[in-house]
Amino acid sequence: MHFSDQSCMEDLILQMSMARDISEIISIVRHSARSLIGADGISFVLRDGASCYYADEDAIGPLWKGQRFPMTSCISGWAMIHGETVVIPDIYVDPRVPIEAYRNTFVKSLVMVPVRPEDPVGAIGAYWSKVGEPGPEIVQRLKRIANTAAIAMTNVALINSLATAREESQRARDAMILAMASLAETRDHETGNHIRRTQHYVRALAEAMRQQEPYKATLDDELIDLLYKSAPLHDIGKVGIPDSILLKPGKLDKSEFEVMKTHAEIGQAAIETAESYMGSTTPFLSLAKEIAYTHHEKWNGTGYPRGLKGEEIPIAGRIMAIADVYDALVSERIYKAAMPHEQAVDLIASESGTHFDPDIVEVFIKIAPIFKDIHRKFSNAA
Ligand SMILES: [Fe+2]
Ligand SMILES: [Fe+2]
Repeated sequence: MHFSDQSCMEDLILQMSMARDISEIISIVRHSARSLIGADGISFVLRDGASCYYADEDAIGPLWKGQRFPMTSCISGWAMIHGETVVIPDIYVDPRVPIEAYRNTFVKSLVMVPVRPEDPVGAIGAYWSKVGEPGPEIVQRLKRIANTAAIAMTNVALINSLATAREESQRARDAMILAMASLAETRDHETGNHIRRTQHYVRALAEAMRQQEPYKATLDDELIDLLYKSAPLHDIGKVGIPDSILLKPGKLDKSEFEVMKTHAEIGQAAIETAESYMGSTTPFLSLAKEIAYTHHEKWNGTGYPRGLKGEEIPIAGRIMAIADVYDALVSERIYKAAMPHEQAVDLIASESGTHFDPDIVEVFIKIAPIFKDIHRKFSNAA
């Protein structure tokens, strides 16, 4: 092999190793195989059930691109069925060649190599306009290209199955979260669509916050998505609150309220249990835990369960506090009427720096109409 051929072959191998889908593999073969082989034509054939699909070609004249033939009546089919390389110095004297298919082509001789001979998924053909036996080195090179394509196709299949597995586990995770959240929701009949609404408020607030410093860098797409997905678990701890308190049709007395307050710790502990079962945490679980634990803290340190102050309260808890309170205010409860949107915004504004983070309240006031829309869109009746 000449030096330049050698480096072309290495180039092809490198490109193949980086291919991310089958069409890339085919295109690499189309672009470099013909000159590497010194052939008049190259075709890439894929096995498609009982037929051979001529997926692509690079040749001095048209071959069979886009056509399908039964496996039993074409040379690529023969190569795939037998898992063997076929060398045909003169197509008109070889009984395996379906002459009719070749009459309108330039082809006089050919080599066909199966891709992955032990379990062929395709074949690569090289064609010449002259009768003659292609040298062993040429056959060897074509085999090498086919082997490289086989490895690349296996890689692509692996990458795809990994991506599918990842998607499945993400879907399972999302379904689990919703199942857990709806479990909490069925215990608390008054919440209606509270969980869905707070999820949307939180995302709207975070997206508006990241328009300005110091949140530009910290609130990235990934974190906002995590916030959106973990927000439904903020009241998961309510599953641990007795019905007599959770479903009481009126204001709670002091001791009942003390019990109600424990939902923040119960939620935190429940998610921690999930983490310990997993043997590690995930960004999602640790954020969900943080929100469950801190969404009732207040900026001035008078909240619960720990009485955290200012920026000691994680940002996710500070965002959730506003979303949670807004929704409670504008929603009807058995013991209270719904407060009009404007009044709820004023009330939250008046608690800036006492209950809520003043910077987040500022953003909230700016985007308050979005909150109103979300509440309308996911009203309890829906
Ligand atoms: Fe809560
Ligand atoms: Fe809530």
